[in-house]
Amino acid sequence: MAREKRKFVCQECGYTTPKTLGRCPSCRSWQSFAEEIETLTTSSKHRGIGQVSRGPEPISKVAAGEVERHLTGMSEFDRVLGGGIVPGSVVLIGGDPGIGKSTLLLQAGNALSQNYGDVLYVSGEESVSQTKLRANRLGVVSDTLYVLCENNLEQIEKYIDEQEPKVVIVDSIQTVYLSNIPSAPGSVTQIRECAGHLLICAKNRNIPVFLVGHVTKEGALAGPRVLEHMVDTVLYFEGEQHHIYRILRAIKNRFGSTNELGIFEMQSTGLADVMNPSELFLSNREEEVSGSVVVSSMEGTRPLLMEVQALVVPTNYGNPRNTATGVDRHRIALLIAVLNKRVGIDVGDSDVFVNITGGLRVDEPGIDLGVLMAISSSHRDIPVNRQTVIIGEVGLGGEIRPVTHVERRIREAAKLGFRRVIFPEYNLKGLEIDEDIELVGVSDVYDSLGALL
Ligand code: TYD
Ligand code: MG
Repeated sequence: MAREKRKFVCQECGYTTPKTLGRCPSCRSWQSFAEEIETLTTSSKHRGIGQVSRGPEPISKVAAGEVERHLTGMSEFDRVLGGGIVPGSVVLIGGDPGIGKSTLLLQAGNALSQNYGDVLYVSGEESVSQTKLRANRLGVVSDTLYVLCENNLEQIEKYIDEQEPKVVIVDSIQTVYLSNIPSAPGSVTQIRECAGHLLICAKNRNIPVFLVGHVTKEGALAGPRVLEHMVDTVLYFEGEQHHIYRILRAIKNRFGSTNELGIFEMQSTGLADVMNPSELFLSNREEEVSGSVVVSSMEGTRPLLMEVQALVVPTNYGNPRNTATGVDRHRIALLIAVLNKRVGIDVGDSDVFVNITGGLRVDEPGIDLGVLMAISSSHRDIPVNRQTVIIGEVGLGGEIRPVTHVERRIREAAKLGFRRVIFPEYNLKGLEIDEDIELVGVSDVYDSLGALL
């Protein structure tokens, strides 16, 4: 017999309590509880994800069977996925509204349907004609790409059973619902259960399933955290609102590295792969300006050259501020402190602005030295040579620490016509570079500033 159980669920993290609370004790968000009803007849409690166990067997005897990945026709997308999409896997793509998630998946769906057979694109947000309008813009013409405007997951599953598509795209997981669950679409219980159903569908039929996920205003994926644990791959699609570049980043990937970065350009005809991102992130400035430095950051297996710009100006009133776009503000404060203590350059009475051109966000410590140089260059109003690339992590003692993949970074710099690389002396050991580029190894911040003169 169906038994109903009422509970309050935090819509941010999925924490449940029998009575509502003002603040979630788990994720500490305010006013996030909503009442949900769980019907205990659903077998969901004891449901696996559709895998039939064959009992324990020695790992050495397990037949691996190289998986055949499907290519999405967009090389940047394939790279972030780890070389294409693995059949039977579920990929969740999150991102701000309007960033281009639907566009990306419609384009990928088009290519997949041309190469592998029927693709079912389930749109819970837009009508079929709206999707068609977008498809026209993107030049999506495949006869085997099917659009379904439906929110009821049981219906969607029925169509999947009938049609047996090779790929399913659900845009978005927040708009689909199961009718036997009383909670509203988008609630924690609905999202969890719907994702569970789609997971089983993917594993049983051995087809890839793409899910679009909304993000909260803090930028995390909306819905229960457990959603991220359930799926095989979590990707974030991001970019600055006013830039045309979009970045696809893997947060979790059971079938590939999470360091890879895909870069796209949003054009009037949809998303285009950016093959030579370094060229794109360097501004096309002719004359030298103080505070501007070219750095190299490893994004996955690919070195990216980009420009760091700093502006140091005396504070007019109030406390000095530092403002950073694309780099962590605390890192800037640390570098300013090192500059003060180890070199004696004090920018303590100035506002410091640091910016990475092109709307990129960089966490790699290999750009430390470049950021520090940009700040000191702006402070002293002495430009850094435009033909120079600066690489290195800065320690609290002012020492320059080694970075990874230094050869690849130097080759990329040489390829783009730079004449000189300043990088950690430690990395000089065993370095083999044939390219025509001057190599300057530095061991501390003081040295590095000297090397610029
Ligand atoms: P969309 O894919 O609808 O975003 P999401 O699904 O993540 O909410 O992308 C919409 C934005 O992309 C919109 O602001 C317009 C822009 N866009 C283009 O610039 N060119 C195009 O060809 C398309 C289809 C959209
Ligand atoms: Mg959309």
